[in-house]
Amino acid sequence: MAKVRKAVIPAAGMGTRFLPATKAIAKELLPIVNKPSIQLIVEEAAASGIEEVIVITGRGKTEIVDHFDAHPQLEETLRRAGKEALLREVVRPSQMVKMATVRQQRPLGLGHAILCARHLIGNEPFAVFLPDDLVDAQKPCARQLIDVYEATGRSVVALMNVPREETSAYGIAAGAVDVRDPRLVNISAMVEKPAVVDAPSTQAIVGRYVLDPCVFDYLSRTNPGRGDEIQLTDALAAMIVERGLYGYLFEGNRFDAGDVTGYLLANLNWARRTPRIWAAIEQYVAAHAGGVPR
Ligand code: G1P
Repeated sequence: MAKVRKAVIPAAGMGTRFLPATKAIAKELLPIVNKPSIQLIVEEAAASGIEEVIVITGRGKTEIVDHFDAHPQLEETLRRAGKEALLREVVRPSQMVKMATVRQQRPLGLGHAILCARHLIGNEPFAVFLPDDLVDAQKPCARQLIDVYEATGRSVVALMNVPREETSAYGIAAGAVDVRDPRLVNISAMVEKPAVVDAPSTQAIVGRYVLDPCVFDYLSRTNPGRGDEIQLTDALAAMIVERGLYGYLFEGNRFDAGDVTGYLLANLNWARRTPRIWAAIEQYVAAHAGGVPR
């Protein structure tokens, strides 16, 4: 079984849910505590065994690439000042994975963004990380999926149960739980952002996928769907019949960092790791519990 070594991170979206913050700043660079959110994604990729990451960018996204580049001048300044801990933090993003970028020239959808990486992926399985979805898990979410792929040879998407009224915000997958593992779902149908009454289940696709390279053939034949965009969900739905597809009800907590509330909750979640910051938040919340801030 081919190892999953490469990943695609589509980061060309305009971040309209976060305006005006994202008018001049890529949403992927908004910080979770003190790290750009996309760094958490690349950390998850590296911790999952990914060696090469292809970031799909667009206009106004070049600073993402700068963040993962070396910065000799800053490094030298920190070294001279003896700020070793900060220096390590500054150097780390440039050493986690090999990185390449591809520009998606037109906003034709998630499926199209993935297709832009075809020539760099070649004929090997790969992971996809949607950078809005941050997952805090003991075993990295992508690693959970890679383990399924490497054991079965079948493409797999991350799933989580959502309240029925939220199904219209996600790709929804229907299927039967596999007898070998209660987290594994044999997907039989998929639909992108259905009307709530049409949702075939309450199992939502979360932004982690491990895909066989044959998905590129399906993507190249996929017509624009919801929102007049080429949807990854539609390509995967076409793949089910001929190739099969698993869903995996991953273990971990997912935050939608592309949404203001989800982003703030993600900040609280990761702030808990720094006792000094968390103590200040607890103090603030205790002092303001039940009250509306002025
Ligand atoms: C994308 C996918 C959708 C998935 C979601 C998860 O939608 O198209 O199937 O459920 O990510 O976050 P987006 O939220 O980018 O519109």
